[in-house]
Amino acid sequence: MIKLGIIGTNWITQQFVEAAASSEQFELTSVYSRRLETAEAFGQKNGAQEFFSNLDDFFNNGTFNTVYIASPNSLHYEQAVMGIKAGKHIIVEKPAFENQRQMEAIMELLKTHPELKYFEAARNIHTPNFHAIEAQIKKMPVIQGATLTYMKYSSRYDNVLAGEEPNVFSRHFAGGALQDLGVYTVYDAVTLFGVPEDVAYYPQLIRTRVDGKGTAVLSYDEYDVTLNFGKIVNSHMVSEVYGLKDTIVIDDAGEISNVDYFDEAGEKQTISQPVTDNPMLPEVLDFARVINDPDNPDNHRDYQRWLNLSVQVNKVLFNLRQSGKIVFTDEK
Ligand SMILES: NC(=O)c1ccc[n+]([C@@H]2O[C@H](COP(=O)([O-])OP(=O)(O)OC[C@H]3O[C@@H](n4cnc5c(N)ncnc54)[C@H](OP(=O)(O)O)[C@@H]3O)[C@@H](O)[C@H]2O)c1
Repeated sequence: MIKLGIIGTNWITQQFVEAAASSEQFELTSVYSRRLETAEAFGQKNGAQEFFSNLDDFFNNGTFNTVYIASPNSLHYEQAVMGIKAGKHIIVEKPAFENQRQMEAIMELLKTHPELKYFEAARNIHTPNFHAIEAQIKKMPVIQGATLTYMKYSSRYDNVLAGEEPNVFSRHFAGGALQDLGVYTVYDAVTLFGVPEDVAYYPQLIRTRVDGKGTAVLSYDEYDVTLNFGKIVNSHMVSEVYGLKDTIVIDDAGEISNVDYFDEAGEKQTISQPVTDNPMLPEVLDFARVINDPDNPDNHRDYQRWLNLSVQVNKVLFNLRQSGKIVFTDEK
């Protein structure tokens, strides 16, 4: 059993802890929260035995060997550094880090701890339906780009409209649409098509001076991939990958539950399968197999691929943010 410690006690941590429990590969031992009562309440509900409100104490005295970091984005880097230095495997929520400087520092630190694994929790690329899209693209002789959409109204935009600044819409916490739902579409694109040659981002800024929604264009040698993402509207637009006369149609680029392939005659074949109840289960199983058996050649190959993807996505996100002239408070 992998012993798990967690940072963050919001609904996403609950979902991760439930996926970890149902995988039967993880045992939650340790919970950190800014308030001890919150750590105890969350931990007792989920079977943990150790509760901390001091991060040094959590990392140095917690008996876990793997930490899941689901704090506001701007805190990921510092917490990941503490975790690696304390000898823990790191699972960090997307977007892992704010910029290439942070990413490079993490990669350097990992070199001094080769026994430790680092994962970015990009749940979408671990799902069977994403793998079905990858397999279909491999079979298509011509690819001519894609349009990928993930836009969902966030209840926290209600708070923005009421004059508040929730973390996810705050420059102070490295928030905004690109940093949130946009990450999934960038992960889709970089995994399916590689690193683009050029990028442009056209953000729609909101009162808190982050992007509420936006359109990004990733330019490749022979085609473009357009990304639409946002947290201040709901979109019902499907996503598409274009062949020559054939097309892959995806119901939602961030939560892929249905994928249809239309061949050149327009005949439809559904290539997706029913999704797991917990959308984090596929990534949890992937992380567990690498931690449990890192020397298995398949696990080693997959781990290296996810590591490279995390570095590449970090770079593309940063370049998009530069293009959209979005600067976080701590980067000024
Ligand atoms: N994979 C997914 O599907 C998914 C979905 C949602 C979010 N996420 C990612 O998960 C991460 C957390 O997102 P979230 O929306 O849950 O964030 P959040 O609610 O702003 O904060 C998450 C946790 O961090 C702690 N926290 C909140 N404000 C803080 C502050 N000012 N200083 C220090 N700690 C603070 C809180 O835990 P305590 O009160 O216990 O300290 C809170 O439960 C983000 O990176 C986000 O992108 C991923």
